[in-house]
Amino acid sequence: MRASIGVSLGLLALIGLSLTSLAEAQTTEASPVFSIGYNASRLVMQNVSYSDGTSPLRGFLAYDNSSTAERPVVVIFPDYDGIGPYEIWRAKLFATLGYVAFVGDIFTQNIVQGPSIPVAMRSMLTQIYSRNVPLWNSRMKAALDIAVEQPYADADRVAAVGYCFGGGGVINLMRTYPNVTDGLLGVVGYHPSISIAPIEPNNPIRTLMFYGFDDSASLATRDQFMQSLEAANVTFEFTQFGKTVHAFTEPNLIGSSASASTAYNQVADLMSWATTRAFLMDIFGETNVNNPYTYASMEPLLDLATA
Ligand SMILES: *[C@@H]1O[C@H](CO)[C@@H](O)[C@H](O)[C@H]1NC(C)=O
Ligand SMILES: *[C@@H]1O[C@H](CO)[C@@H](O)[C@H](O)[C@H]1NC(C)=O
Ligand SMILES: *[C@@H]1O[C@H](CO)[C@@H](O)[C@H](O)[C@H]1NC(C)=O
Ligand SMILES: *[C@@H]1O[C@H](CO)[C@@H](O)[C@H](O)[C@H]1NC(C)=O
Ligand SMILES: *[C@@H]1O[C@H](CO)[C@@H](O)[C@H](O)[C@H]1NC(C)=O
Repeated sequence: MRASIGVSLGLLALIGLSLTSLAEAQTTEASPVFSIGYNASRLVMQNVSYSDGTSPLRGFLAYDNSSTAERPVVVIFPDYDGIGPYEIWRAKLFATLGYVAFVGDIFTQNIVQGPSIPVAMRSMLTQIYSRNVPLWNSRMKAALDIAVEQPYADADRVAAVGYCFGGGGVINLMRTYPNVTDGLLGVVGYHPSISIAPIEPNNPIRTLMFYGFDDSASLATRDQFMQSLEAANVTFEFTQFGKTVHAFTEPNLIGSSASASTAYNQVADLMSWATTRAFLMDIFGETNVNNPYTYASMEPLLDLATA
């Protein structure tokens, strides 16, 4: 995800305007998979307007309202396309598991990221944040802050998950400890971009990362990042999937939409999802304390029938 071209913010602001109209003109082709795994009639789904300073943002909220129980919060950070059918689908899946799910906006309502924008241009838009990590962190913190204000949200139990660019984001978010949002217990990155930066020793944010073994995008920094986590005594897990390339969780990247470097991989997707589920149960204290080895069930944890 590194490009060698320098881009000025002024230029980006200019192209941002024309990109908006471009993106609005196109319709995103959604995978049929995006309609499975949840029951829409049980979910509240809303766009939520909020802001980071003067920047207008729009996120997406999903939660199961057949229970009034307070529940943990999962904040999702999109890949470099911004919020699209893929991230919205993931939010519905997390909501179905019994969490308040919120997709955070990084790029603002003024810039509509999307597949209509040429790939090189989309990467340039992400560089605004990779070159200004405090701004990126501020956008993520704004999402966490609005997410914990939503109905039934338990502000003391929050996880942040991110895909690709968003995965690189949650790595930065983890590294903001000790200035991190209260209640953030863990971060999960799927095929994340990786930068290297200092980590406060004994950073308590649990860290879970998934990579395709053949993902050249993160290869150069993967080991170094792991070493930095180990040196800081972070409790982390790294999973690598063989014969797997970048973007392996995205079911729309199949057939002619896949390439040699980005493709869906069902084993990697389902195993990373199951591991994420176990990770969330662990950090949120949802495992059976009487026998923690009995938590294999993937059923939603909210007792929806009795609430
Ligand atoms: C979806 O949820 C609604 C409301 O609880 C229920 O009536 C319906 O049977 C569910 N649909 C499926 C396919 O489970
Ligand atoms: C849950 O949300 C749906 C859709 O917004 C709504 O029709 C339903 O009345 C809500 N149920 C409860 C128990 O609030
Ligand atoms: C959110 O806004 C988008 C763009 O205006 C719209 O297409 C979508 O239907 C909205 N979603 C909800 C749940 O209101
Ligand atoms: C946390 O905030 C303090 C005070 O602003 C700052 O000096 C420190 O560098 C910050 N640490 C991190 C890891 O961001
Ligand atoms: C590492 O962190 C754990 C808690 O996660 C703590 O118990 C242990 O003392 C730490 N080790 C060092 C060397 O600081």
